[in-house]
Amino acid sequence: MTHLVLVGMSVREVDARQRLAAVVARHEGTVAFLQMGDPSLHRELTRLADAGVEHITLVGVSLGTLAPATSWLRRIASHWWREHPGEPPVVAVATAMMRNDLDLDLVLDVTRPISGTEAPLSSAAWEAVPGHRHQVFVCRGPRCTALGSDKTAEAFALELMRLEQSDDDVLITQTGCQFPCNRAPVVSVQPDDVWYGGVAPDVARTIAHDHLVNHRPVEAHRLPRRSVDLNTQEKS
Ligand code: FES
Repeated sequence: MTHLVLVGMSVREVDARQRLAAVVARHEGTVAFLQMGDPSLHRELTRLADAGVEHITLVGVSLGTLAPATSWLRRIASHWWREHPGEPPVVAVATAMMRNDLDLDLVLDVTRPISGTEAPLSSAAWEAVPGHRHQVFVCRGPRCTALGSDKTAEAFALELMRLEQSDDDVLITQTGCQFPCNRAPVVSVQPDDVWYGGVAPDVARTIAHDHLVNHRPVEAHRLPRRSVDLNTQEKS
């Protein structure tokens, strides 16, 4: 008997957890996440192995446009497989990604077992802190997510691509709650220490163009930042 695990590849699938659980319930399978969701793929594989499951099939799920490729699923699973103490279960990975609820049976047609020879988690290319000019923190806390910050993050990524800005120019990072929830969706830009509220996708595109490329913060959406007197803080 093979246990099926749907693996959410990006933050978007964390938001769709219940929907994915309903899809995989037909196969008595479970859901895990490659990033930012619980259980992690690593934890779910360990739980299944500890429960004596001998065959596991992983299906990567991407419901949006931005997610790591299936090779990352193989890479992470292979790391777990190599490190697992004792005899690991057979782990196979669907070669295609599930992109909507109807895909699952189709995607399950072609799977490839993990061999342990997949690329490792580290690479010389990921040794140094990148030299990006700006880092954009897009809030994916509960309120911002409810008000569409998944679309905000996507709009930043696509617009920056269009403007030919790479990770070495602008790094996009999705975060938990950044605090001014009433102003959701919230985005902060560092090292400029500029905070924005109400960042719908069209606003994200304007910020990308005006602020991140042309260095002109978008005042209409800027949030006031309470200043902190470090001297006073140190004394108190
Ligand atoms: S959820 Fe985004 S600032 Fe709180």
